[in-house]
Amino acid sequence: MPGNRADIRAIKDATDIHAVISRYVSLSKSGSGFKGRCPFHKDDTPSMTVSTEKGLWHCFGCGEGGDVIAFLMKIERLTFVEAAKRLAEEAGIPFHGTEDGERAKLREIVAEVANQFVRNLRSSAGLRAREYLLGRGYGEESWQRYGLGFALPGWDNVKKQFGPKHGERTLLELGLLVEGDKGTYDRFRDRTIFPILDASGRPIAFGGRSFEGDPKYLNSPKTTLFDKGRLLYGLSWAREGLAQRRSAVLVEGYTDVITLHESGLTNTVGSMGTALTQGQAELLGRFVDEVVIAYDQDAAGGAASLRGMQILRNSGLGVRVAQMPVGEDPDGLVRSGGAQAMEEVVEAAVPFHRFFIDALAASHDVESVVGKERLIDDAREFYRGIRSQTLRVEIERQIADLVDLPIESVRRELPRRPDVHWTDEEAERDASILGPEETALSLVLRGDIPWNQLFESFDPSDFSEANRPIAEALQKGAGDLAGLVDVLDDESARRASYYALAPVSYGDTERAFNEAVMRLTSLPRLERELQELTTQLAESESAGDTERWNELMKRKVALRLARKGRNGDQGEEERVEDDRQGEDGQEAEGRHEDGSGGEA
Ligand code: CTP
Ligand code: MN
Repeated sequence: MPGNRADIRAIKDATDIHAVISRYVSLSKSGSGFKGRCPFHKDDTPSMTVSTEKGLWHCFGCGEGGDVIAFLMKIERLTFVEAAKRLAEEAGIPFHGTEDGERAKLREIVAEVANQFVRNLRSSAGLRAREYLLGRGYGEESWQRYGLGFALPGWDNVKKQFGPKHGERTLLELGLLVEGDKGTYDRFRDRTIFPILDASGRPIAFGGRSFEGDPKYLNSPKTTLFDKGRLLYGLSWAREGLAQRRSAVLVEGYTDVITLHESGLTNTVGSMGTALTQGQAELLGRFVDEVVIAYDQDAAGGAASLRGMQILRNSGLGVRVAQMPVGEDPDGLVRSGGAQAMEEVVEAAVPFHRFFIDALAASHDVESVVGKERLIDDAREFYRGIRSQTLRVEIERQIADLVDLPIESVRRELPRRPDVHWTDEEAERDASILGPEETALSLVLRGDIPWNQLFESFDPSDFSEANRPIAEALQKGAGDLAGLVDVLDDESARRASYYALAPVSYGDTERAFNEAVMRLTSLPRLERELQELTTQLAESESAGDTERWNELMKRKVALRLARKGRNGDQGEEERVEDDRQGEDGQEAEGRHEDGSGGEA
């Protein structure tokens, strides 16, 4: 937090978010909050919601959101400190922001620690790390070039060496120390260190790899200097390569970046995990026109990765997917097949929609009716996140070819609103399109369910990569919504504002929460859906909503038959189609664009 947390809190408490946003957007009263046209994208329906009570805003069209500081930063293109200062002045309260001089001081401290890590690697205590790096093919030149180091075993090496000089508070702020029950101790212990540099090549954070044991990588938390969502690993080394080729190779890991740079692919940067953020996409967009995703195959097919590709594509970049051999990451491929093998894979990368359609084709029997249905069903989440009309039509056409159906019938089955603009009337119906993870978080962030109840059933590690930071902050007891948003990175803050403000009516919130918990825990997908449909059927019956009841019943019959059909019963499959005649592509399931899905 670049600034005193109590100050930030005071600024937010003293600021009327409605008054500030009203200067830029005409807001009208809607429910318990306000609505207006989002200034951050072309918005014909008012998609932006502002809640004075929660101190948050969110656009359900483009996915932007956060607190009043985030709004001012974005609309006036200010840094955090500038925006906070301006609001502090208006409110007539003090703000002790981190001035440039202080940031420079903090960077100096990180640099000192980085240098110590480098020295450790070369010391007698660093033998094991040196052997480890050499074993992975990284010689002394690479240590030098990438600033590699070693954090000594023991709980207080950094604390003892730098604590007296710089103060433990500062080291804590920089994520170098961790606060435990019995005082502070070193975060990085007995790990090979990969310094994370800012765009100018100055160390601001660290990734530490264990020799064995979990977690494999430990990273600095969000600090005044470091926000993972606004940085790409290796950017400072890649600037030239990116500018020359106008194309980036995007990999997951530290070692992938280093190995590819060593093999001449100097336009490689790392997303540090598969969940690429809007901030990282914007950063890439400044340098290149196209991004080639080179994740290992499982990761590339995952929900977090899909979301990242959609973010890139929606920022106007070309996105291709390198088809990595199964079980290999780029570092592994170079080790086994040489730089040549990696270059070929990058060269042959396919447009990302092609990658997903091929994956759909490979995992469904397109000859059977049920196979076709499931394929189209599975295409929904992918399709939903695409904003380009041209690309959407292209996807419809390719799917139609694949399942050998007219394009119109495929289109009917796909979600009609890739940008979801929720009106109050639609809200009730769309409750069913939130995934269970999102439902649980949303119930908690709206204040319908006590925060601690979430952790009676889950641990933050049960959440997908995208939602985990929110869960972790909740578990640490961020205090309240305003406090929570303060400790989250931008991407997570956007999500939190979405969960807190999504205009969904859950009816009985306890039950909705329990259902979400149940869906998240063990039952297989079909079973889960069937259970959910059963409750929804009961609901619509008691509400006397025959239209919805009919629609749900059709879906239930189809699912029951699909479950049977999985055992290879052709006769049943044909009947499934009959049951679906007349269905109008209503979304009885699936997930909202901004939800990342429930998979880790
Ligand atoms: N990562 C992380 N925390 C973890 C696991 C992974 O931050 N517990 C990030 C790191 O940036 C890591 C990247 O995700 O480099 C990819 O993870 P993974 O594929 O598991 O590791 P590799 O990079 O392949 O690591 P290595 O080659 O050293 O085994
Ligand atoms: Mn690896």
